[in-house]
Amino acid sequence: MLIVRARIRLSGMEAKFGSNDLLPLWVADMDFRVPDSVLEKMHERVDHGVFGYTFASDSYFEAYENWQKTRHNVTVNRDWIRFNSGVVNSFNYLIQMLTTTSDHVMNFAPVYPPFFDAALKNGRPISVVELEQVDNTYEFDFTKFEEQIVRDNVKVFLHCSPQNPVGKIWTKEELEQMFDILVKHQVKIIVDEIHQDFIRKGENFTSALALSEKYYPFLYVLNSTSKTFNIAALVHSHLVIPNAANRAEYDEFAETVAHYPLSVFGLVAAEACYRDAGDWLDSLLDVIEYNYELLKEKLAAALPLAKVVDKSATYLAWADFSPYLNGRSLEEVMEKDAKIAVNHGDWFGQSGAGFVRINLATKPENIAEAAERIISALS
Ligand SMILES: Cc1ncc(COP(=O)(O)O)c(C=O)c1O
Repeated sequence: MLIVRARIRLSGMEAKFGSNDLLPLWVADMDFRVPDSVLEKMHERVDHGVFGYTFASDSYFEAYENWQKTRHNVTVNRDWIRFNSGVVNSFNYLIQMLTTTSDHVMNFAPVYPPFFDAALKNGRPISVVELEQVDNTYEFDFTKFEEQIVRDNVKVFLHCSPQNPVGKIWTKEELEQMFDILVKHQVKIIVDEIHQDFIRKGENFTSALALSEKYYPFLYVLNSTSKTFNIAALVHSHLVIPNAANRAEYDEFAETVAHYPLSVFGLVAAEACYRDAGDWLDSLLDVIEYNYELLKEKLAAALPLAKVVDKSATYLAWADFSPYLNGRSLEEVMEKDAKIAVNHGDWFGQSGAGFVRINLATKPENIAEAAERIISALS
């Protein structure tokens, strides 16, 4: 059973939105408590009382490998796995390792804002490919994509798969066509698959690790338990590097930035989640699905021109309210009038203007309440 710890996401809200009095549907973590079976394992580890340096056990790797195999049909070789304290840290490190300050880093937008920071805050020029909205989902033009790679002499492509915030799953064919172009131009590919477990029923997620081995010399895949099981603050994540020379290069680099990146509670919780929380996740996906339909239904009835983008993954709804803004800012509508904290679309890139990202990983009452408040603020 899912237990809701509502309003956990209040922390940090005042700093971000200037108020603590908003319905919190912003940062991408969830209102759900991890299963008791996982907490029991953590309590056991606390009772042990010794928290010195630790290592991943065989049983950890078995649980991780089994999850990847059964949920994603991916066989991960144990030697390929490296640990880190978070996926964002990992892509920052990789960009530092793989590029110099004159090398362009490319990404699609709209995208999770740290993707922009990963280039810009590391002093690298950025090459942004704006996705195009087609039939209420997102696509891009492969020819323009290749031209831009050549024009900017791109060295690294940082890919979000599934794509936060638009909820797009990249099909096998799209990934292959994209990767073929990238490999042709010797571009290294970092794939952030942190949202891989939030897949709608009937949809198929393809991990970059499920594609041909010909991509391995270019490929770095990042995944984690942090989103899936709501344990981001346990700072634990994986880098999967299938090529031996790339692993050796990373290991040498990691000595300078992440010498010992293992958290004992991250390991204990992640293993317990992989072993015991499959049913918990399935119940959670049902709640997200319910909330997504609820939001769409309520908005469609009252604000028919507001579009909730068709998503196939993630627990985030991406909705365009621009037809109703009439010159008002999102801040005025969402924070001042509706009193909800949501992410503003332009935080995810310029094409996000007029959109908001609404976190669906909460109890349905909160989604119904948010929809009512938005409707009344915009009507
Ligand atoms: C696409 C994506 N990558 C990474 C993260 C954060 O990962 P971590 O906390 O492991 O750095 C998020 C969090 O929302 C995300 O949406």
